[in-house]
Amino acid sequence: MEKHIFALQVSHLLGEQFSRAWVYDKIEIPKKPHLGDLAFPCFSLAPFLRKKPEEIASQLATQLKHDLFAKVQTAGGYINIFLDQAFVTEQTIKQVLTDLSSYGSHSFGTGKTIVLDMSAPNIAKPFSMGHLRSTVIGNALSNLAEKCGYTTVKINYIGDYGTQFGKLLAAYQHWGSEEKVREDPLKELTKIYVQFHHASKDDPSLIDEGREWFKKLENQDEEALKLWKWFKNVSLKEFDKIYQLLGIEFDLTRGEAYYNDKMDNSVALLKENQLLEESEGAQVVRLDEEELPPCMIQKSNGTSIYATRDLTAAIDRYQTYDFDQALYVVGHEQSLHFEQVKHVLHKLSFDWADQLKHISFGMMLTGGKKMSTRQGKTILLEEVLNEAIQQAASNIEKKNPELQNKQEIAKQVGVGAVIFHDLKHDRRNDVEFSLEDMLTFEGNTAPYLQYAHVRGRSLLEKGEFHIEKADVSLMEEAAWPLVKWIRHYPEIVLKANTNYDPSLIAKYLLELTKAFNKYYADTKILQKDQQNARLTLIYVFTVVLKDGLNLLGIEAPEHM
Ligand code: ARG
Repeated sequence: MEKHIFALQVSHLLGEQFSRAWVYDKIEIPKKPHLGDLAFPCFSLAPFLRKKPEEIASQLATQLKHDLFAKVQTAGGYINIFLDQAFVTEQTIKQVLTDLSSYGSHSFGTGKTIVLDMSAPNIAKPFSMGHLRSTVIGNALSNLAEKCGYTTVKINYIGDYGTQFGKLLAAYQHWGSEEKVREDPLKELTKIYVQFHHASKDDPSLIDEGREWFKKLENQDEEALKLWKWFKNVSLKEFDKIYQLLGIEFDLTRGEAYYNDKMDNSVALLKENQLLEESEGAQVVRLDEEELPPCMIQKSNGTSIYATRDLTAAIDRYQTYDFDQALYVVGHEQSLHFEQVKHVLHKLSFDWADQLKHISFGMMLTGGKKMSTRQGKTILLEEVLNEAIQQAASNIEKKNPELQNKQEIAKQVGVGAVIFHDLKHDRRNDVEFSLEDMLTFEGNTAPYLQYAHVRGRSLLEKGEFHIEKADVSLMEEAAWPLVKWIRHYPEIVLKANTNYDPSLIAKYLLELTKAFNKYYADTKILQKDQQNARLTLIYVFTVVLKDGLNLLGIEAPEHM
């Protein structure tokens, strides 16, 4: 609010060539309180206006006026704005009390749909840490989009098709045991798949067997289809356990295989548009002008591949949802693939091709290296989650053995820790997997935030605060930094949504909570004078903290 007003006034004074947006981007938040609440540096104006920054600052400063501004000063080429604390505090607290959980929301997305392609684990393989990244980032982006008014459709595009399933079927013929698959499906199926991989090094005929079984699958051979369906069902059941732990649901679970009989249309369309070319027996779309390698559409043996399926799925999704944006939350090693898909759609004259966005993220590494299923080195996500829950439970046992609902809260804390560890990093960076870091219950972690929420709630209980007692007239210097962070929330939501960056929310919550902890340490919250005004601020803080955690897909328990 005040930032917009500040930017608007400065850009008015400067004249047309300096837009409000340009000024807005330059406004800073001073680290030191004696420099005010907002600052605008005048240095980059100097060459245009042929004046010293100090001079520009003082000239502008005298003309800036608003009810929200208590004082306008200059210092070393900066304009510093001091807000009217009493006025802003009252306004902020009132706003949260009115909006409650819709505080910080926006409406620019209303009437528009965002489709998210997220999670997408591959059947017959364990759910990996990489798929966790896609799941929790996608879920947070969906929550953010909804907070901005959009309707979202979360699609789980299960990897349930491809030549590797031919190998798996062949492996099952050699080493498979129905009983063992029933017992622990993903482990057993991975085991025989790895075994196949090793054995085929000495015995290349296995590769041919794999190819034969894939052909059978393509031709809907009864035996092949039956096994494949079974593998798929047991895999989905295992994945569901993880989604339940994470508290994440999808609007649609639809695998790659769904598009098997729909790809012919896409291939025909490409032919009609004379986009297909032969290259070493395969059919490709050349992307020379785009300076990309050709996009493979059909292999020499006629089988379709990944890109053809994604083209078909994109067209189908556009027809179904008329989306404003289609986000693909997938690791950055698939960047080229999504670039190619987008350009091919462009060549087909689909003007919505630009609405496809690859939301890429870094890899989960162990000891600096990528994890791989084929070498059997993957860390099992279910184990990680259960370990985190167990540690949270033993923490509770130590600190608060009387707590009710212990199991449920241990789950909220443990799972929250894992989710937050992922989301606090800029998604584009690689993340080193460290069970230890994830589970530290001190520092920049979910439990740290959850604990502040609990502390806030218990103050409200002790002070017997009720919303009818709300008092928005808080006059207390010590509360100001906390008020300001609460006031930033709507802007952070907007930015996190625009940049597809949940880490902005995570970092914001850490700052918000630091401000709360400092206020709590410096102030006797429950002293009689102004008690209700102080508790109203604490209440408002818990509302924002809880909402922010929920945006990330993390619960905020009342007790722990
Ligand atoms: N199942 C794939 C994998 O694990 C990811 C699928 C991503 N989504 C898509 N539309 N291609 O690599």
